[in-house]
Amino acid sequence: MDPPVRTAARVAEIAPFHVMEVQTAARALEAAGRTVVHMEIGEPDFPTPPLVVAAAQRAIAAGDVYYTSALGLPELRRAIAAHYADHYGVAVAPERIVVTAGSSAALLLVMALLVNRDDRILLSDPGYPCNRHFVRVLEGTPVGIPVGPESDYQLTADLIERHWTPATRGALIASPSNPTGTVVPFDEMRRIAQAMADREGELIVDEIYLGLTYGARPRSVLEFAHDAFVVSSFSKYFNMTGWRLGWLVAPERHVRDLEKLAQNLYISPATPSQRAALACFEPATLALLEERRRAFEARRDFLVPALREIGFGVPVMPTGGFFVYADCAAFGMDSERFCRDVLEGCGVAITPGLDFGQHHADRHVRFAYTIDQAKLEDGVARLARFLRR
Ligand SMILES: Cc1ncc(COP(=O)(O)O)c(C=O)c1O
Repeated sequence: MDPPVRTAARVAEIAPFHVMEVQTAARALEAAGRTVVHMEIGEPDFPTPPLVVAAAQRAIAAGDVYYTSALGLPELRRAIAAHYADHYGVAVAPERIVVTAGSSAALLLVMALLVNRDDRILLSDPGYPCNRHFVRVLEGTPVGIPVGPESDYQLTADLIERHWTPATRGALIASPSNPTGTVVPFDEMRRIAQAMADREGELIVDEIYLGLTYGARPRSVLEFAHDAFVVSSFSKYFNMTGWRLGWLVAPERHVRDLEKLAQNLYISPATPSQRAALACFEPATLALLEERRRAFEARRDFLVPALREIGFGVPVMPTGGFFVYADCAAFGMDSERFCRDVLEGCGVAITPGLDFGQHHADRHVRFAYTIDQAKLEDGVARLARFLRR
């Protein structure tokens, strides 16, 4: 007989990604000879830019594979700071930048820095699922605040004020958001920062999709919120998901404690990845990334009207990232069953709302436009035929 499984209580409260089940079912269909249009995958289809790959190869060949400072290579911290100046017109001291193993490690570091047992962190529901789990792992309480089209699926200063209690420690906002692709308007972000300052709360902003903004100039909260924690990543805009590299911009007074935490939690971010990332800021790489950003924008411009045309509700035009959060209530079944039916019925893989929270999760699905235009068109045509039956 197997010994009883004894794990900490927190583990039972960590939900798996439902999208993984979608992917497993999709792979099984493919193994059985069917073709599947993958619109469930939350990472760019574009390969890592060639200069970045070459820089990693050079670093590895030169034996540059040893630990770095827990805060990251000084030249990479400087390069990220210069990118804020060049791209976003914001002065950020390199000393405030902590290079991390993906923005996931940045999120974990911030939560480890700020959250005591039972501290409450405000989050949007729907939102990126790992956030509530980071808070829970640190014995805090994630508070999902229901949001909908009336606030562009984002928290507002008013919502934050209404949900604030003496146990609230801060709020985490992703702008642009996963799964909705929506952005907090800049004036609202100012009101949010003020509301947090008035309550001595901590504002954490996840800007990992900021480079992928459409129709307006991307603006970082660092323009005005010098006390905010800002999380970002090489994963999405820079097409480096598997390299596991991101960063955190923190108020300078917290950097020593973050360094201590990083040293203990993972020693340092991956050295070849850091060497590679230096090539992200070469003009040729930035030009390529801009071309890819425009390709994402063109895909969005095709997909959103096409989904509306076949009966999905997309009340707010997403203006960033590569996701569309669509209301599927018109098709008369809950979103989990809908995703299963659509996958089996027409070979289109999409993610049920349940992955992103509770609020109206049963009537929403997430489409990722991380496939080329021809595949997107195929996916929409399959859906149109299937849903007309
Ligand atoms: C909103 C958001 N934040 C953070 C992450 C984590 O990404 P990474 O750790 O690759 O930087 C993701 C990944 O999908 C995300 O969508």
